[in-house]
Amino acid sequence: MRPIGVFDSGVGGLSVLRQIRAALPGEDLLYVADSGHAPYGTRPQRFIESRSIAIAEFLVAQGAKALVVACNTATAAAIAALRGKFDLPVVGMEPAVKPAVEATRSGVIGVLATGGTLESAKFASLVERFGSRSRVIVQPCPGLVEQVEKGDLAGIATRDLLERFLRPLLDQGADTVVLGCTHYPFVAPLLREMAPGVALIETGGAVSRQLARRLDEEALLAGRQGGGTERFWTSGDPRQLADLLPRLWGCAAPVERLP
Ligand code: DGL
Repeated sequence: MRPIGVFDSGVGGLSVLRQIRAALPGEDLLYVADSGHAPYGTRPQRFIESRSIAIAEFLVAQGAKALVVACNTATAAAIAALRGKFDLPVVGMEPAVKPAVEATRSGVIGVLATGGTLESAKFASLVERFGSRSRVIVQPCPGLVEQVEKGDLAGIATRDLLERFLRPLLDQGADTVVLGCTHYPFVAPLLREMAPGVALIETGGAVSRQLARRLDEEALLAGRQGGGTERFWTSGDPRQLADLLPRLWGCAAPVERLP
């Protein structure tokens, strides 16, 4: 009956938390938004690794039985260190290159992600393993995480940024776009409006299924079909996260300051 610890550089991981809640309605969930240090996408790998370890230590001290790194950038930078340090299931995420390559009809896929993810060795190996049958166009999205952190999901500034990031992908014939950062599913409605014929692929569902499998293997599932609770912490402004929760999580909830 111990909780599952989930974290991200900020509010993006809430897109993953929603999928975890849908897949595992009986689990208690702890969520840490490291919004005081977002975005991670332009930070050095060592910084992201030490933040990830500090947050994981906090979640384990709260009793977490498993960790979900609900952040592509932190997974690329820190999952090896987390798995080396903590003796519990650690589930991470990576851009859905393989499903996109299987889905594309034009043979061109676009990957929207942070610079940190796109420049990582993990991403290079992903493209090498699965990307050879298609053309893979990568597009870093500086500024987009900040817009989502502010809750600007459809305003002019966000629209302008997306237009700039989408245009090169569309011009080169991409029919499938990978949302390779957990903040981006929150602008999926705007992306669909701007590129109606393009398939958007995200990873939250696959991650929650992987989490369920890992918990089952380790006999760690809570064993009830509903009634799971959530607790939220942020290293940023708790009021700001509390204001965003109804939109990004689906209902209001108390938010605590991360010690
Ligand atoms: N949600 C993080 C990810 O998936 C955003 C990274 C950032 O803070 O730049 O990559």
